Amino acid sequence: MTQIDLNGRAALVTGGAQGLGEGMAQALAGAGAKVVIADIQDERGAKVAETLGQAHGFVHLDVTNDESWAAAVAFAIEQLGGLDVVVNNAGAEITSLLVDLDPEQARKMLDVNVLGPALGIKHAFRVMRPGGAAGGGGGTIINIASVAATIAFPGISIYSATKSAVDRLTRVAAMESGKLGYGVRVNCIYPGLVPNQMGANLANDVARIGLFGSPEEAVGAVVGLTPSGRLASTEDIAAAVVFLASDKAGFINGVGLPVDGGMGM
Ligand SMILES: NC(=O)c1ccc[n+]([C@@H]2O[C@H](COP(=O)([O-])OP(=O)(O)OC[C@H]3O[C@@H](n4cnc5c(N)ncnc54)[C@H](O)[C@@H]3O)[C@@H](O)[C@H]2O)c1
Repeated sequence: MTQIDLNGRAALVTGGAQGLGEGMAQALAGAGAKVVIADIQDERGAKVAETLGQAHGFVHLDVTNDESWAAAVAFAIEQLGGLDVVVNNAGAEITSLLVDLDPEQARKMLDVNVLGPALGIKHAFRVMRPGGAAGGGGGTIINIASVAATIAFPGISIYSATKSAVDRLTRVAAMESGKLGYGVRVNCIYPGLVPNQMGANLANDVARIGLFGSPEEAVGAVVGLTPSGRLASTEDIAAAVVFLASDKAGFINGVGLPVDGGMGM
């Protein structure tokens, strides 16, 4: 079997201090890439970077902040000697019925899930395009949307809306990159529900607000809607990131890849 080889590639993963981002960072490093983890959780992020080894690093990044992005990308280029891959993975999910919508919580999700990746694309384009500080050789951006962008699951309206926005953002970004000759591929992934902290919180919350009898019932409903008959794993999602980051996906551009066992449409 041909292994995917990312030797010589430099990657920045947002939200890499835990959960899916941590798994993505491990998988990218396992395929040979050098990785910078970028997160608001300094201690945790630095620890994960340490487990990856000396060639890798951690940088504080608040994805909602323009200056923070500029500094993080500059750090990654300095630390890794370039930047070829940006994974816009950091995200936030706050469950609520629409009748109980809290504008502050909605704004938080819009900020982290939409503005965050948009700024990530901005700063990745600036350094990856011809003449850019990363060497100008182009690169690839992978945005993490969600199966929530492709289905109608109750209790996650704003989260779903932000993830649908990530989908459009991805396609327009790919068009701009192509039209302006940046040489950057931009794709997104729609992960299915993963039974990690965010997944467990979601199951608990939809039960708490009365949409399901229990968290287990909510998880059962998700599995019931999934042809593959199980939840997603961190490894499932990380493998798709490694693939999209590689030359094997060299002609895949401006698309959304469901990694959801068939749950989405
Ligand atoms: N867990 C799931 O079931 C699931 C399913 C589909 C999609 N997703 C998406 O996958 C991504 C990762 O999810 P996860 O399950 O690992 O979640 P998680 O909550 O475990 O991790 C999110 C990470 O993002 C970081 N983060 C949050 N706000 C940030 C900010 N402003 N700047 C920088 N970093 C910030 C957190 O510190 C954390 O390390 C998210 O975009 C999420 O929406 C998750």
